[in-house]
Amino acid sequence: MLRVLAGEAVWPPPVWLMRQAGRYLPEYRAIRAQAGDFITLCTTPNLAAEVTLQPLRRFGMDAAILFSDILMVPWALGQSLRFAEGEGPLLEPLRDSAALARLDLARLPDAVAPIMETLRLTRPAIGDATLIGFAGAPFTVACYMVEGGGSKDFACTRRMAYAEPQLFAGLMELLEAATETYLLAQIKAGAEVVMLFDSWAGILPPPQFEQHVIAPAARIVARLRAAHPEVPVIGFPRLAGQLLTRYGGMTGVQGLGMDTAADPASSAQGLPPAVALQGNLDPLALLAGGAALHDAVTPILAAMRGRPFVFNLGHGILPATPPEHVAALLTQIRAA
Ligand code: CP3
Repeated sequence: MLRVLAGEAVWPPPVWLMRQAGRYLPEYRAIRAQAGDFITLCTTPNLAAEVTLQPLRRFGMDAAILFSDILMVPWALGQSLRFAEGEGPLLEPLRDSAALARLDLARLPDAVAPIMETLRLTRPAIGDATLIGFAGAPFTVACYMVEGGGSKDFACTRRMAYAEPQLFAGLMELLEAATETYLLAQIKAGAEVVMLFDSWAGILPPPQFEQHVIAPAARIVARLRAAHPEVPVIGFPRLAGQLLTRYGGMTGVQGLGMDTAADPASSAQGLPPAVALQGNLDPLALLAGGAALHDAVTPILAAMRGRPFVFNLGHGILPATPPEHVAALLTQIRAA
């Protein structure tokens, strides 16, 4: 994985899966039940480290991703957060300057200390695999903070960006600083690669994509690389469409995540050859399994052979995915 992110075309490619720890694994559900709620699981280092390691033990993945969530940053800044059963995340919606003023960057280091302990516990236990730290990118985290949870179109957030630009800029500046502090701490605690998840990047028109997705990512990458030139950064601007390769060229990332809709061959065309691509199997093909899975994997491998590439999904693994399908996927990739 580290060789690929340094620009080498390693074959067969390294493989890990977004959300590889999670509800599709019975051993995850057992630990989740033991922890009680999701935030407790994320802030109990021995349990979070155990869950981080589960997919490596079962499938022999090439990388472990820290078990945590992108919404632990708003939680650490002081916004109330809970994960309701079957409903996803619920936050106190941030809609005015008073709500923004209640958040406090100074709280973050102590609040995320247990997450750093998870990384310190995991690193010596993963052998040759690579430890990935992560954060949500400022725009996607702002989406959840402003709406107060998930949404189809994050209309309140986009309205705020147009109608109350100073308020939105204040939130984005706070998140950029928080993301940087948080990722620097993760690197210090043992993360060997960091990934920026911008899951909702693609809902923005091109000028706002430039302003709220590319520009903050470029600044975050520059500051991380200045402090730790040995640690590669993977960017994942989901649903970016035509703007994916522009993001790859302008942000300075070493790895670029392709979502399910991206075409691997054309994503590679506009990109500097040393930037690794990562992706992009449809999570539903993995859920379906069998010949459909095999036939979905083949063209991705064919398009990526000969360039730096990390095999992954185009979005997170679905909870109904049979674990045997993941084992079959790894067998196919390792035989490539
Ligand atoms: O294996 C891993 O990838 C580990 C850690 C991880 C989680 N969330 C654990 C999690 C990572 C990297 C994330 C990222 C994340 N979280 C994103 C970006 C990637 C993406 O999927 O677009 C986003 C948008 C979130 C926010 C979030 N967290 C939502 C919308 C939800 C509810 C929906 C869902 O999938 O459950 C979560 C909860 C969550 N995060 C769970 C897990 C394992 C399920 C919690 C449970 O066990 O009940």
